[in-house]
Amino acid sequence: MGVYAITLDGFGGPEVMRWASVADLPAPGPGEVLIEVAAAGVNRADLMQRQGFYPPPPGASEVLGLECSGVVSRVGAGVRDFEVGQSVCALLSGGGYAEQVLVPETQVLPVPDGLDVVAAAGLPEVAATVWSNLVMRAGLHAGQLLLVHGGGSGIGTHAIQVAVSLGARVAVTAGSGAKLARCKELGASTLINYREADFVAVLGDMGGADVILDNMGAAYLGRNVAALAPDGQLCVIGMQGGARGELNLGALLGKRGTIHATGLRGRPATGRAGKAEIIAEVRRQLWPLVAEGVVAPVVHAELPVTEAAEGHRLLDSAETVGKVILRVRD
Ligand SMILES: NC(=O)c1ccc[n+]([C@@H]2O[C@H](COP(=O)([O-])OP(=O)(O)OC[C@H]3O[C@@H](n4cnc5c(N)ncnc54)[C@H](OP(=O)(O)O)[C@@H]3O)[C@@H](O)[C@H]2O)c1
Repeated sequence: MGVYAITLDGFGGPEVMRWASVADLPAPGPGEVLIEVAAAGVNRADLMQRQGFYPPPPGASEVLGLECSGVVSRVGAGVRDFEVGQSVCALLSGGGYAEQVLVPETQVLPVPDGLDVVAAAGLPEVAATVWSNLVMRAGLHAGQLLLVHGGGSGIGTHAIQVAVSLGARVAVTAGSGAKLARCKELGASTLINYREADFVAVLGDMGGADVILDNMGAAYLGRNVAALAPDGQLCVIGMQGGARGELNLGALLGKRGTIHATGLRGRPATGRAGKAEIIAEVRRQLWPLVAEGVVAPVVHAELPVTEAAEGHRLLDSAETVGKVILRVRD
């Protein structure tokens, strides 16, 4: 019968995306669930995939979409944690911009009671990225100082809330006063407009950052090392400022610093450092905070999936604070 999904009419601008009929998905295999998608989160990576710069990993769906929410409609053999009819959200390797998606149950999270199922579509990617970096890698804890670059981004708005819930202090950079004001509402206490102030000087006056969550990559490498506290850790998750930078090892060594660089999508589904391990930790430690409303989705806009092009333009506009969500069903 066919289901609908966003297909690409070649690689290029937002206009190449079409909501079109595609082949039915197979029945869920062992350990898989089939989700009737309610909504999909838009990620910066989707914009790169649409342009042909970020191919899906081998075996992943060609359809865009790294996260979704919806209702479980079928379960494969051996699925223990989820049942038909349950509201869920899921971390995907692809395929979220569609009416249906197949996903291993180890990448699925229940939507807590009271949380809007559409807004929940914007949580899995930021939750898994932030928790795996700040907590599982860097061990961020109470009393430490975290610097979040791009505090108004989907990742940034989530990272602020998580860090504050752990008892850390949070400094953010952003390019506008409006974004910084939103970061303050979410709990950031040091607000740096990177167009007007030098974050290295601000952090220097505070003794340096114990952990930095960085979206800029090469452009900020040297300055990030300069902004670290002794024994500080730099977590690079984005390369918006390029992939090749020059590192002064003497400066890093003098701080006894550590640089982590991690990607989520290319991780194996299971096994060491796989998506299943991260989602299990997110479910065990972060999800109770989401259920209590201590950490909440920050949604800038919800659009129908037929307006995916507008969603991509919006995320690319630097106007958004938090996530852009595509509604697949009303
Ligand atoms: N490694 C991983 O596993 C992983 C997973 C998810 C996302 N990411 C990465 O994390 C980053 C954020 O993702 P997202 O989906 O949340 O993107 P997003 O909402 O589109 O945010 C991108 C942000 O970059 C900020 N920005 C641009 N120039 C900046 C500068 N010079 N200094 C500081 N911030 C600057 C923009 O804010 P301003 O208007 O304030 O400049 C914007 O808020 C992206 O680089 C993405 O690729 C990585």
